[in-house]
Amino acid sequence: MRHLLTLFDLNSHELNRILSAARVLKKMHSRGQRPAVLQHRVLALIFEKPSLRTRVSFESGMAQLGGSSLFLGDDVGFGKREAPSDFTRVLGQFVDGVVCRSFSHDTVATLAKYDSVPVINGLTDLAHPCQAMADVLTIEGEFPDRPLTDNHLVFVGDGNNVSRSLALICAMLGMKFTLACPKGYELDQPWMSKISERYPDAKLHQTTDPIAAVSTADAIYTDVWTSMGQEAESAQRRKDFADYQVNAGLMKHAPETAIVLHCLPAVRGEEITDDVIDGPQSRVIEQAGNRMHAQKGLLAWLLNPHWVGENVPE
Ligand code: CP
Ligand code: NVA
Repeated sequence: MRHLLTLFDLNSHELNRILSAARVLKKMHSRGQRPAVLQHRVLALIFEKPSLRTRVSFESGMAQLGGSSLFLGDDVGFGKREAPSDFTRVLGQFVDGVVCRSFSHDTVATLAKYDSVPVINGLTDLAHPCQAMADVLTIEGEFPDRPLTDNHLVFVGDGNNVSRSLALICAMLGMKFTLACPKGYELDQPWMSKISERYPDAKLHQTTDPIAAVSTADAIYTDVWTSMGQEAESAQRRKDFADYQVNAGLMKHAPETAIVLHCLPAVRGEEITDDVIDGPQSRVIEQAGNRMHAQKGLLAWLLNPHWVGENVPE
């Protein structure tokens, strides 16, 4: 029984198995096939914050693979009605897996501590591992003729849950990653040190210069300047990130072949302009679509490893 709280819960081989399962299931989906990989499995979703992509892609993915899902609303009283240990141990008797989106990463860690079924992080203040897996599918889909390791992912924006997970997945897969952010918004040292310890060959850089960073980018990624839960800081952040908008001026310094990514939802006119997010280099809609495929691979790997062993080439 395994959890996915951050990508540190996997080694590179396991991550590659999940991504391979995702590719197989994505191809089947494109042919209209809906294999019953997760028949009779039930997934529970507990979300403390809003979600379109994560919630719907998990629920649809389960349904398409023959399983079902339960979105648990406020009435179950998570964190309010009973001790987390009681809640979790009871829930684990009814379902085969739990996806949790919480403000504090400690909440998903607590679920995992007491749960007898896999717990998947559906976004916390610390990490967004499912997003990073989908983003790899998007990048490789765009540049199929070269090894993934040849790609340079440049994140222009905050050292937040999304960029933290992207830095780690790039290290795990041998991709180059650069974060361009204002001083004070870098990725935190404990996280970066853990990456370097685990992946000493990681090609990770941080800079305050977005123009230099995008000049060698294959994918330019941005996310909101103010993440959910940081609303009180938004005025300050708007000032601090003013020079880090992904706009036509910045895109002039990037290769014409570079794609633009955003995990969405976006604050148009803040971290990214309409002309760029709707422009020819943007892949944000395909990127969101890949959430479901990546998570199908993850769910198959967690809940039906036998199927993965039989159907996914090494
Ligand atoms: N990217 C992402 O996680 O979107 P949602 O907040 O809509 O789930
Ligand atoms: N960094 C953003 C990502 C939303 C998908 C947030 O946490 O709000």
